[in-house]
Amino acid sequence: MDPRCTMELCRFLFVAVFLLLPGASSLKIKAYFNETADLPCPFTNSQNLSMSELVVFWQNQEASVLYELYLGKEKPDNVNRKYMGRTSFDRENWTLRLHNVQIKDQGSYQCFIHHKKPKGMILIYQMNSDLSVLANFSQPEIIEISNITENLYRNLTCSSIQGYPEPKKMSFWLKTENSTTVDDGVMHKSQDNVTELYNVSISLSVSLSAVTSNMTIICVLQTEPMKTELFSSPFYIDPKDPQLQPPDYTVWIATAIAPLAIGLLLITYLIRQKRKKKRQPGVSNECEILKMERGESEQTQKRVNIHVPKRSDEEFQCVVNSLEITSGDKSATHF
Ligand SMILES: *[C@@H]1O[C@H](CO)[C@@H](O)[C@H](O)[C@H]1NC(C)=O
Ligand SMILES: *[C@@H]1O[C@H](CO)[C@@H](O)[C@H](O)[C@H]1NC(C)=O
Ligand SMILES: *[C@@H]1O[C@H](CO)[C@@H](O)[C@H](O)[C@H]1NC(C)=O
Ligand SMILES: *[C@@H]1O[C@H](CO)[C@@H](O)[C@H](O)[C@H]1NC(C)=O
Ligand SMILES: *[C@@H]1O[C@H](CO)[C@@H](O)[C@H](O)[C@H]1NC(C)=O
Ligand SMILES: *[C@@H]1O[C@H](CO)[C@@H](O)[C@H](O)[C@H]1NC(C)=O
Ligand SMILES: *[C@@H]1O[C@H](CO)[C@@H](O)[C@H](O)[C@H]1NC(C)=O
Ligand SMILES: *[C@@H]1O[C@H](CO)[C@@H](O)[C@H](O)[C@H]1NC(C)=O
Ligand SMILES: *[C@@H]1O[C@H](CO)[C@@H](O)[C@H](O)[C@H]1NC(C)=O
Ligand SMILES: *[C@@H]1O[C@H](CO)[C@@H](O)[C@H](O)[C@H]1NC(C)=O
Repeated sequence: MDPRCTMELCRFLFVAVFLLLPGASSLKIKAYFNETADLPCPFTNSQNLSMSELVVFWQNQEASVLYELYLGKEKPDNVNRKYMGRTSFDRENWTLRLHNVQIKDQGSYQCFIHHKKPKGMILIYQMNSDLSVLANFSQPEIIEISNITENLYRNLTCSSIQGYPEPKKMSFWLKTENSTTVDDGVMHKSQDNVTELYNVSISLSVSLSAVTSNMTIICVLQTEPMKTELFSSPFYIDPKDPQLQPPDYTVWIATAIAPLAIGLLLITYLIRQKRKKKRQPGVSNECEILKMERGESEQTQKRVNIHVPKRSDEEFQCVVNSLEITSGDKSATHF
């Protein structure tokens, strides 16, 4: 027997004995998306036939040809376009390698070996295989949906992308000092219509009033068909976390304080103005003139500013003063 007979190959050979019986089982082949699938044709060649006597080919379930070796030479004529340049034949172990495997490549394949004799072709070997394609989902990732106006909840989503086949279960594990609760989320699935890979996600809303001690949240994706579990990195919620303070609180304070501060400023100016008025009774008259000039034309105002630069202080006070007068009624209602 072939010294290269590995456990796998020997099993194939054993299966090969029953090959031409009807209903012969097929080999189960697994391959990763975008990688290479090995489609074996474990022929023993007990008669030591030369390749130049044989016609070897693979076809898919629709009878499209993947590869043909005709009397020892590759014959691309019958090969379906979608398999062009994607295959390589390993003569050592009669295996066809299909590269860049896609989800669409799932299905059954058959290899045939014919002996070409002068009288015609005789089928001497046939093997069926079933290919299933897997794609590992990415490590689940928890991200927070931040919303500054929201301060009652911490809303999280966990997502994992570009896997196959469709997983069955995705959950959040909420661990506190003394307990672990499992939240089986409603899994949102989306499938890429070209690659046919799945993206999955779940959402969680943690009510902050329920978080009394440090909480660790882990997202777990249970993938098919091996039921392996993929874990996210932990996400921590600390009840003393400053993030838990409503962030818009300071904004709220600021908006409440601002009118107060402005009001106080106005009052201070008003008091100062009244004191100045008492000390310099002429100033208010000048102010009246300035205001009148401004109302008449911009040019005169500029001239006044240029000619009397030292009075800019007084002019400012006049403006404030007039502001006060106009908004006087409003501020009175406020305070
Ligand atoms: C397929 O694999 C190649 C490299 O082997 C990589 O560049 C490419 O991004 C992969 N495509 C997908 C869809 O994963
Ligand atoms: C098979 O044939 C090759 C030549 O084609 C020869 O070298 C080899 O010894 C043969 N093996 C057997 C087992 O007959
Ligand atoms: C056939 O041989 C190649 C390397 O030459 C190896 O990668 C592949 O796994 C083998 N296939 C089988 C079915 O033994
Ligand atoms: C997919 O995951 C399995 C088990 O987690 C690992 O053995 C395998 O190497 C991974 N394959 C790829 C292509 O990432
Ligand atoms: C934030 O939450 C509020 C209330 O829940 C909602 O009206 C608003 O659209 C959200 N904003 C964003 C950016 O999600
Ligand atoms: C956890 O259990 C310990 C002992 O039973 C108790 O002292 C502690 O308060 C518990 N912590 C929480 C967060 O309930
Ligand atoms: C899956 O996620 C990837 C990365 O975020 C994105 O590029 C792709 O469009 C998503 N596919 C689907 C079907 O949502
Ligand atoms: C994939 O789906 C999108 C939206 O559903 C559509 O616009 C696009 O044409 C589709 N692509 C293919 C290759 O079917
Ligand atoms: C967070 O979750 C709560 C409760 O489910 C919801 O009312 C709120 O709108 C969510 N906020 C965001 C930004 O999704
Ligand atoms: C909670 O976590 C913070 C750090 O995130 C740590 O300082 C604190 O001691 C923890 N509290 C408890 C009760 O474990």
